[in-house]
Amino acid sequence: MILPGSDSQEFAATLSSVTGEPIGQVEYGRFPDGEQIVQIPEPENRAIVVSSTLSDKSHIELLQLQDAAREVGVRELITVIPYLGYARQDKAFEPGQPVSARAMARAISTGTDQVITVNPHEQSVLEYFDVPAKSVDASSYLSQGLPSMDDPLFIGPDESAIDLAEGVRDAYGFGDVDYFEKVRLSGDDVEITPHHTTASNRNVVIVDDIVATGSTMSRAIEALQSPAKIVVACIHPLLAGNARTKLARAGVEQIIATDTIDRSVSSVSAAVPVAESL
Ligand code: R5P
Repeated sequence: MILPGSDSQEFAATLSSVTGEPIGQVEYGRFPDGEQIVQIPEPENRAIVVSSTLSDKSHIELLQLQDAAREVGVRELITVIPYLGYARQDKAFEPGQPVSARAMARAISTGTDQVITVNPHEQSVLEYFDVPAKSVDASSYLSQGLPSMDDPLFIGPDESAIDLAEGVRDAYGFGDVDYFEKVRLSGDDVEITPHHTTASNRNVVIVDDIVATGSTMSRAIEALQSPAKIVVACIHPLLAGNARTKLARAGVEQIIATDTIDRSVSSVSAAVPVAESL
């Protein structure tokens, strides 16, 4: 039985229809003091908790779903985390800071037999789990939502996004791939320097794993010289705060994203590769 978190309803429903695994009716509530509570249906031998950890609330909910499943006697418990939050804090960047990805992974490991996630920001964070943890790659699925384009140029806004850009280009079938140099100036500002190829008069698809504040994407777009069309493709459309309008103002014509985070731009499902890995 699939036990969804409240922020992963769409993903869980799609996973249920792809796998044929029934989906449990989970109730979510809060006590008067603000503490969260969940309630799950009757026991089954196997449970699949499905919850993106895109907020502190969803982190707590995931731990509660795991614990409720164990409490009602579930023997095999798989935790699917379509978007793995805190994965960008994979080291202590300054003295005195935690390795938040490790802290979260340890907590999640206590309640599960296995973890499956989609394109974590750093693959190495999987090593922080104390149970078997694996990831699936949804980049090739992003190409399904792309418009028909002549001579497309797929760009990673930094070097770490080049594999994703290549994955989308390969699935699309043709096009060039390039990447930019990125230096992060603050939590919501980055500096982008163009690399090799000119984007002038070309159809450009900028590919990244996450769009959070939209700063990386909007700076990358500023670095393009007169492109014909700008499309953004990302795995995890966090789109925090005013990110969506930032992209619109930057001239983005279309955003293609997966449903690891349920947003209006989540037109492609990552549930298929997850189903294949179950
Ligand atoms: C960082 O390296 C990631 O790959 C993304 O580029 C980053 O998380 C995007 O964040 P933002 O939209 O806030 O610039």
